[in-house]
Amino acid sequence: MNWIKKNWQWTALNLLALAVMVSLLWQFVAVEEFNPNYDPLLISSGKWAMRFLLLCLLMTPLNTLLGWRRAVKLRKPAGLWAFGFAVAHFFLNVIGLQENWLRAPIPDYMAALGVIGLGILTSMAATSTRWAMKRLGKWWKRLHRLVYVAGLIVIGHALLESSNKRVAGYEPQVEIELGLYLAILIMLLAARIPAVRSTLASLRHKHEVRREPVS
Ligand code: HEM
Repeated sequence: MNWIKKNWQWTALNLLALAVMVSLLWQFVAVEEFNPNYDPLLISSGKWAMRFLLLCLLMTPLNTLLGWRRAVKLRKPAGLWAFGFAVAHFFLNVIGLQENWLRAPIPDYMAALGVIGLGILTSMAATSTRWAMKRLGKWWKRLHRLVYVAGLIVIGHALLESSNKRVAGYEPQVEIELGLYLAILIMLLAARIPAVRSTLASLRHKHEVRREPVS
């Protein structure tokens, strides 16, 4: 009980992700009619991968800029769930294809962006252990910085796929949603610029000084 009290954010994040994954798999098993133009489960799994990827990226600024130290503990599970949903998304695509995926593994440049994004997420998931961190040394940090590149690539992939595959016809709000994710990603990237970082840190410091009780 004490452990759950201490780690409730970590528990909540994992339970939420697990519930979404089970619901996706459940819907996949229960689906009766398949529309080759639009597969809501394919889109939904891609969006969840995107959401967990953004959540993973949000944790560092929450720690460094807002001083919420527990956020660091949530970065790895959020990243691993992003990878898990991306894998589910990939397999839903392969299963839903009319022909064998191996005949045309990368049909166009939009799919290529998705494959590159999945490749980056796979390399990060594979090196997410302490052992890999030690073995890779300074290369570990360099490799894991690619997560921002992965974010930009998969948003590009999603925006292009959404307009091209007529997804927007079934889900008119999808481009607005993806635009919002892109805006969040740009803000997270901006928060890494040293000048922005120090301005935000000094604002936080001023705010904390003002809140301190006068003794
Ligand atoms: C982290 C997020 C994502 C990753 C890593 C990812 C990756 C992939 C991969 C590897 C494929 C298979 C490409 C192939 O056939 O070789 C794919 C297909 C697809 N993805 Fe994503 N994706 C992501 C998010 C999204 C989102 C958010 C959407 C739309 C809102 C989306 C829409 C699609 C569509 C429509 C296809 C089918 C393409 C086709 O039929 O040729 N993806 N994705």
